[in-house]
Parts: sequence; structure tokens; C-alpha cells
Amino acid sequence: MTLSKISLSLIFFTITLVRAATFLVQDETQSILLKSSKAEIKVPVVLGVMSRCPDALLCENSMDAVLKKVGDKIDLKLVYIAELNSSEPDFGATCMHGPEECAGNVQQLCAAKYAPFSNWWEFVHCNNYEGRSKIGLPETARKCAQTAQIDWETSGVGECAGLDASGKAAEGVRLFHKSIEFGKTMGLEKSCTIYINGEKVCVHDGTWKECENGHTVADFTRQINEAYDKLNA
Ligand SMILES: *[C@@H]1O[C@H](CO)[C@@H](O)[C@H](O)[C@H]1NC(C)=O
Repeated sequence: MTLSKISLSLIFFTITLVRAATFLVQDETQSILLKSSKAEIKVPVVLGVMSRCPDALLCENSMDAVLKKVGDKIDLKLVYIAELNSSEPDFGATCMHGPEECAGNVQQLCAAKYAPFSNWWEFVHCNNYEGRSKIGLPETARKCAQTAQIDWETSGVGECAGLDASGKAAEGVRLFHKSIEFGKTMGLEKSCTIYINGEKVCVHDGTWKECENGHTVADFTRQINEAYDKLNA
């Protein structure tokens, strides 16, 4: 073997090694990317509610217990039930429990849009804890914003729902109308209706109804785990 032949073999050997290493690294990167993108598929959970409805309060309470078990697997959203009505001067919609309920819906939607998840959820809980007859009132919104560590003036929530906390500001009312329309496309009629991964799984209307797979926290948790595993299989 001449010296040039040896160096040529060495060069080929090196190239082969580098190729193999590159391939391994790419493979590794791909599988990491695949894993992380898979882990991001959360289960959409929707509660169809009205902010002053006793059934909604009950569902939200139940979902709070579910969140404590499988919170990191859920993408939770509240959708509001009302009737669009252009004769209504403030909200352009009629709410079953009066205009204060419309205001409460708007405040909660604005908190959902501009506050982080846990602050929004605490805001909703604070509303409920204040009592149904106080939901939607400006003083309740301000007090609960404080409790949930939402700065009404600077977070965006206030500008969305009204700096006066009336729930009558344009952006919030638009969000409310979009929510009503979204509910209609889902066939949402009753507060409270629970959807897991796009499927209507349970209704609470005075009592639990149409809950084929159960209505306890454990039942919802199980259904969410099943949907999560299916989505991330
Ligand atoms: C629409 O709003 C007007 C004004 O408040 C009210 O009188 C009427 O009953 C509402 N219509 C419906 C269908 O709720």
C-alpha cells in the first residue's frame, strides 16, 4: 500500500463516520421534535354556561376538581349561552338572568383573553363565591380582579370589558357575540353542558342528564385521560 492509498482510505473512512454521526443526530432530533409536538395536543374541554346560572356554578366547581387531577392535559374554555338581540342597547343580546349576566359573561371572556389561565379561572371562581346576584356588577369584577391578581387598568382586561367594569365595552361585547355564535354552531342549548374533545358528554340542568359515561369528577377525569391518550397515540 502506498502512502496516498492509505490517506485516501482514511479520508473515505472519515466521511463515512461523519455521515453516520449526522444521521444519528438527525434521527435523535426528529424523535425529540416528534415527542414534544405530540405532548402539545391537549384535550379541548368546553363548558357551555351562563355566568349567573346555578348549573354553571356547579359545573365550574366540578371542573375545578378535574383540573386538579388532569389540568395539564386540558385546554378549557367557557362558551356563553344567550340570544343575540339587536334591540338590546348595551349587549346586543338577551341573557336569561338579566343584563347583569351579560356583563358577567363579558367580564369573564375578557379575563380569559387577557389574563393567564390560572388568573382567569380564579376570577371566575371569585365571581361564583361572591354569589350569583353579584356576578356582573362592576364592584364584583374589580374586587375579583384584585383577588385573582389581574390589574384591571393595565392587563387589557379592563379595556376589553370597560375601564368602568360595566362589561359594555366594544371588544368585550364582540367576544360575547362570537361566543354565542360559537355555541350555536356546537348545538349548545343548556347551561351547563360539558364537552370533552368536541363530544357532548354531560348536562346539568337542575340535575345531571345525558351523562352516558358518568358525571363524577372521576368519570370526567377518566374520559379526559382516554381522549388525551387517543389524541397523542
Ligand atoms: C329583545 O330585546 C328587547 C329589548 O330589551 C326585549 O323587549 C325582547 O323581549 C328581546 N327579545 C328576545 C327574543 O329576547
